[in-house]
Order: sequence, then structure tokens, then C-alpha cells
Amino acid sequence: MTERFNRVAEEWDKGDTRQNIAHSVFQTITSRITLLNTMSIMDFGAGTGLLSFKIAPMVKQVVGVDLSEKMLEQIETKNSSKVQVQPLCRDIMSSPLEEKFHGIVSSMAMHHVENTTALFETFHAHLKRDGFIAIADLEAEDGSFHSHGNEGVHHFGFERTALREIIEKAGFEHVRFHHAYTIEKEVKNYPVFVVTATKRSL
Ligand SMILES: C[S@@+](CC[C@H](N)C(=O)[O-])C[C@H]1O[C@@H](n2cnc3c(N)ncnc32)[C@H](O)[C@@H]1O
Repeated sequence: MTERFNRVAEEWDKGDTRQNIAHSVFQTITSRITLLNTMSIMDFGAGTGLLSFKIAPMVKQVVGVDLSEKMLEQIETKNSSKVQVQPLCRDIMSSPLEEKFHGIVSSMAMHHVENTTALFETFHAHLKRDGFIAIADLEAEDGSFHSHGNEGVHHFGFERTALREIIEKAGFEHVRFHHAYTIEKEVKNYPVFVVTATKRSL
């Protein structure tokens, strides 16, 4: 999977679809969550930073975590004196970070991670007290979304009820699903949700 993202990194931002998804996900997140200039945010599966760079001007720091060095190189090319995202090539599920974040955002990366339960446990472990998650991905689909094939695709979208259960079991509360965008393809449309939740207080 990482090889594929390395191969497509330079082309990733071309065309409207991915820009439109990132824009709508950003709008959905900011309509539900107040971002503050004191916050440190992780963008999980940040890729080229399409979502990260929208959030970065509003907060203190955005760390863009990804497994693809080439996708992260695109973040480096976009960094300027005005706005920066910190790229980090690391598998945080096997090598957790010391740092804890006020919030974790993510767009279209979760379906590439096999163990969703372990992913939300990892998010939980990387959040400060009362921290939030805002995770965007596809509603359950029939496997036709990825026109290049399904290598590295571990989930054909997500059923809301099953995902809610996983998130709650991982230690989150106030789990809410929001419709963010509909990706229109020739034969079918693919709705995208953002699920928000907060780390449950002990
Ligand atoms: C479909 S792309 C989305 C990129 C970006 N969020 C966007 O919306 O344009 C999925 C990204 O998730 C990354 N990814 C997949 N599994 C990952 C993991 N376990 N840890 C970190 N990044 C991962 C991939 O390398 C890829 O850059």
C-alpha cells in the first residue's frame, strides 16, 4: 500500500475530487469543533496535507503522520514561513509517540488500516484529557470505490452502528456521525461521513 502512495504522491493533489473532499471534511469539522490557537493536532494518514494545511492556520501545531515518505515530502514542499505542518513518517500503532494531542483528525485513511479497534485505542492513547477525534471516511460501500483495485484497502467503508461500538469500547463518548460530502462517480455515489467523539473522562 505504501508503495502505491509513494508512486502517486506527486499527482495526488491534481484534480478537484480530493480537494473537494478535504474542503468539505474541514468545513464539517470546524462546524462541530472549536479549534484554538493553543491546540496541538495530529492528522492521521495526512498524505500530502490536504486537510492538515487547512487546519494549521487555526491551531498551534499540526503533526501530519503517515507511512508514505513521498506523500510527506509533498507536505515539506508546501511548508512556508506563514503556515507549517510537521511531517512524521511513523507507524504510531506499533511505535506510539510520547506526545499527546488536543485532537486527532483524519480523512480517508481509516479504510487502509486493518485493525480498526487497535486504531481507535491508539488514538485514545495519543490524546490529552478531554481530547477529540474527527475522522472522515466512506459510508459502507460495495468495494467499487477504488477504481485502481483494492490492494491495501481493508474496509469497504464503514457501517455506522458497528463503528460507533468500536469507538465507544475504545474509551470515547459523545460519538456523533455527520454527513460531510458525496463523491460522485460515473456509476455510483459514495457518501463520506465525519465521526466526532471525545475521550471519556476517567
Ligand atoms: C487515501 S490517502 C488520504 C490522504 C489525505 N488524508 C487526503 O485526504 O488526501 C490515505 C493515506 O493514509 C496513509 N496511511 C495508511 N495507513 C496508515 C497508517 N497505518 N499510518 C499512517 N498513515 C497511513 C497512506 O500512506 C495515505 O497517505
